[in-house]
Amino acid sequence: AIERTLSIIKPDATRRNITGKIIDRLETAGLRVVAQKRVQLTQAQAEGFYAVHRERPFFNDLVSFMVSGPVVVQVLEGEDAVAKNREVMGATNPENADAGTIRRDFAESIEANSVHGSDSAENAANEIAYFFSECEIVG
Ligand code: CMP
Repeated sequence: AIERTLSIIKPDATRRNITGKIIDRLETAGLRVVAQKRVQLTQAQAEGFYAVHRERPFFNDLVSFMVSGPVVVQVLEGEDAVAKNREVMGATNPENADAGTIRRDFAESIEANSVHGSDSAENAANEIAYFFSECEIVG
């Protein structure tokens, strides 16, 4: 089925000026960018976005990293977009990511891992609504 998922190109990637290289991987995989904005997240926005991780030992570092520079927030649309995006991204830890994936080729570390992607259709809907209103999404 045609789905939507939320993608974030993280500060390590905007810092290295490789957002286009990452978007090329997404588009080549058949995902369409139907909404996109470059934003500097506030501390509160980053904490809210990652609220499910707030008890994890890496939470504070993760939030600091996500506000350390601009991010590019996107809605991707396509056949099985949630799973397809996760396939193209590769494993969270770039050391475990398959060859040819975004994280294997571009990520610096498990924290500075270049991209975020929703992990389920339900989370995708919530994450998309966190950043975009329906009129900003143009399929
Ligand atoms: P992301 O998909 O954005 O969701 C949570 C993020 O926490 C994850 O990608 C990683 O960048 C980051 N993170 C940092 N340390 C860890 C860790 N030890 N395990 C899982 N995620 C981590």
